[in-house]
Amino acid sequence: MKIAKKVNLGLLALAAITFACGGGEKASSSSETAEAAAPAPAKEVSLEEKYANDPIYIKGLEKVKGSDCTSCHMVERKIVGPSYAEVAAKYESTEENVAMLAQKVIQGGVGVWGEVPMPAHPGLSEEDAKDMVRYVLLLKK
Ligand code: HEC
Repeated sequence: MKIAKKVNLGLLALAAITFACGGGEKASSSSETAEAAAPAPAKEVSLEEKYANDPIYIKGLEKVKGSDCTSCHMVERKIVGPSYAEVAAKYESTEENVAMLAQKVIQGGVGVWGEVPMPAHPGLSEEDAKDMVRYVLLLKK
């Protein structure tokens, strides 16, 4: 009887230790998986960070920065014009859409996003406007 009790106690202690360790590991590994699977990192990683190494991004950003686009457009927040992310969500990045939107940037336009017009950019080449639009349409969430 006495021996059996000791063995039981030993087993209990072992079980407690195993449970504590196992439980601890489980808790940390499940929170890691939750972080990896949940959309949380997608929210934390900005679109700028997400596409930072994409050549389309690098080229387009340089041209956009060299023009006046940033005074009316932000990547993820609507200011005077729609955010680039909104524009990217609306249009597939096809050659047709790139050409159509490049023309809109060059000629200006109104009525798609509201009553505030986008002024014309007659000084932009079609090539530059297209690179800018490709950059805008890349910024999908
Ligand atoms: C003075 C403010 C202003 C500036 C500067 C500006 N935009 Fe806009 N942009 C707007 C507004 C307002 C709209 C929404 C027009 C509409 O509703 O049709 C818009 C719309 C757009 C669209 C979406 C067009 C569509 O038909 O959906 C793109 C792409 C765009 N702008 C790119 C650019 C680029 C690239 C530049 C820099 C060369 C630029 N914008 C400069 C105000 C501006």
